[in-house]
Amino acid sequence: MLKLLTLLADGDFHSGNELGAEVGISRAAVWKRLQSLRDEFGLELQSVPGKGYRLSQPLSLIDLNSLQASFPSLPIFAYDSISSTNEYAKKVLAMQAAPLAILAEHQTLGRGRRGREWSSPYAQNLYLSFVWPVTQGMAQIDGLSLVVGLAVVRAVEQVVGTTAQLKWPNDVLINNSKVAGILLELVGDPADLCHVVIGIGVNLNMTGTNQAIDQQWTSLALETGKQIDRTKFAQSILESLDLYLDKQKNYGFSSLRSEWLGVHAWQGREVVLSAGNELVRGRIAGIGEKGEICLLVDGQERLFIGGELSLRLRNDT
Ligand code: ATP
Ligand code: BTN
Repeated sequence: MLKLLTLLADGDFHSGNELGAEVGISRAAVWKRLQSLRDEFGLELQSVPGKGYRLSQPLSLIDLNSLQASFPSLPIFAYDSISSTNEYAKKVLAMQAAPLAILAEHQTLGRGRRGREWSSPYAQNLYLSFVWPVTQGMAQIDGLSLVVGLAVVRAVEQVVGTTAQLKWPNDVLINNSKVAGILLELVGDPADLCHVVIGIGVNLNMTGTNQAIDQQWTSLALETGKQIDRTKFAQSILESLDLYLDKQKNYGFSSLRSEWLGVHAWQGREVVLSAGNELVRGRIAGIGEKGEICLLVDGQERLFIGGELSLRLRNDT
């Protein structure tokens, strides 16, 4: 299937004969596979008698060889359609020492924070999990999700020149619409050997409507009007992660706190923080040394931290 898609990715017409010969299957089998591409992955195909088949929109597929060449010492695994790169990362970790990176063209069970669905259409966006060994004790992960957000902001800046903003703890926004999300999962024994699976989803070439998303979203293609080279973006984000994770490991979150505040979307805003059933109303005063959100509540500064916390603007709720 991937071979067929690689041939069609340019968005030009290809005859059934040509595709069949390249892949080593009959014309009828080509037609069947193209139908399943449409049904399974929602790819729009045009079929014109005398010309052949073409994708309605060209696809930017991940070029693993070129990506791997840029990071010779990092094991990178790229898959076609899998459940979730975070889930696969945990499986691969059983066979391959970390750090390592997993990419996919498509996720059938992409997950967001708190078990929510992460929409992952075929070959449209970046679906990446980076597995990072925890070698310096749990202090290594204080504020980590914020630092990963910063690494994403810098990669976006490098590729399209737009400075995105961060909503605590780690949503990446452009003009208040979500362009990327981050899901961190700790695996192993915190008292012994453990790793963080850093899952990153960045909307690159997704356009049109998406019924699966229930909030305002955008993509780099929507922001720039240009198709994004997914391999180049993956390269940029891996470079950025390398830089920021090194800073985090060597100097801790506090060394990046002021840089984080420089791209903080909601500094000074009136918000509601939900923590399970509890709602806390306050004004965002800043970020603590360990990446906590600092709220001014009834004249007092209070720090909050934890994976289940979620912020909303007061006038949105
Ligand atoms: P918070 O976690 O701070 O409450 P959030 O509202 O973005 O932020 P999350 O659980 O982080 O919630 O993310 C899940 C949300 O993201 C859901 O609303 C889901 O509809 C939406 N979503 C799913 N896929 C995408 C995507 N590709 N781009 C943008 N948003 C998406
Ligand atoms: C969020 O904002 O809720 C987090 C979204 C994280 C999505 C990424 S895509 C790659 C990795 N695999 C997953 O299943 N989720 C993360």
